[in-house]
Amino acid sequence: MTALARKPHRHETASQNAANEAFAADVIAGLTATPKRLPPKYFYDSVGSELFERITSLPEYYPTRCEAEILTAHAKEIADLFPKGAALIEFGSGSSTKTRIVLSEAKTLAAYVPVDISAEFLHQQVEGLRQEYPNVAMLPVAADISKPFRLPDSAEMLPRAGFFPGSTIGNFEPHEAAAFLRHAGRILGRGATFIVGVDLVKDPQILQKAYNDSQGVTARFNLNLLARINRELGAKFDLAAFEHHAFFNRERSRIEMHLASLKRQRVKVCGECIDFRAGETIHTENSYKYSLESFGALARGAGWSPVAVWTDADNYFSVHALTLKDDPAEARDRADH
Ligand code: TRP
Repeated sequence: MTALARKPHRHETASQNAANEAFAADVIAGLTATPKRLPPKYFYDSVGSELFERITSLPEYYPTRCEAEILTAHAKEIADLFPKGAALIEFGSGSSTKTRIVLSEAKTLAAYVPVDISAEFLHQQVEGLRQEYPNVAMLPVAADISKPFRLPDSAEMLPRAGFFPGSTIGNFEPHEAAAFLRHAGRILGRGATFIVGVDLVKDPQILQKAYNDSQGVTARFNLNLLARINRELGAKFDLAAFEHHAFFNRERSRIEMHLASLKRQRVKVCGECIDFRAGETIHTENSYKYSLESFGALARGAGWSPVAVWTDADNYFSVHALTLKDDPAEARDRADH
């Protein structure tokens, strides 16, 4: 099948064109699959990144508050786990709000490497960080964290610690989460500490409200995916004909986010006609919820040793400290022989 992207504007660069082609191909592949789906990484254009920042301060969205509570209470202990003179690598840094809690206690940190898919947003954030932390080298990397990426040369030379807050790990399928942890182990190297924020299983009412806020910000965040396809690929989705759906799937221990078609309709996307039944959904994201034990097991299975875990007063959220005893490359070589 050929995915025909809309004609590029003259001022676009070759890499923008390539990114657009990849976006078009992923959109067509997802919308012609059964059931229909779209990759969540495309949520984060600048509009989506701003909407996401608003989600994190919604009254119903407890994860950000709970995680900040944990990081604030244990910032010193966490910072003390980082090797001296380390580079702190954050996977999916967004606005780096939680990182600041830790950065303020990490007195010997040499560098901060925020990695984020939204290049424009990332560079804006780094401007502010440079002023606030003049003694820490700011080395941003614009990359998709689910794919291998290179560290800046000056970070390669330093011991490393990793930071992966926000329960972003829960947005991977469990087998992808394990693969991600292995991949992070290869980037961070032997002796590294990895701090990972993980949302916990709890009362489904509380979970469901967190993803169905009363102001409709999460709905707009979800619908922005269709708006982005309209903007960047020239599609004609009628945003009023789709609705945000989020619910807890107990068997799979995950919140599912969908965009439901409110009627039978046909939408033209990159020259392809996509037909929707009334009520048919596009599955846009999952947010897996773990227990302390189930996440510990996942981490151990991916080669990491749990060293500490903290929770908030309500036991809604957890922050795990992991270390890597084995060199992941050596462990792999042993497994190969
Ligand atoms: N990882 C967080 C979570 O699953 C944040 C997040 C990612 C999110 N995508 C989202 C929150 C979509 C709300 C809606 O909760």
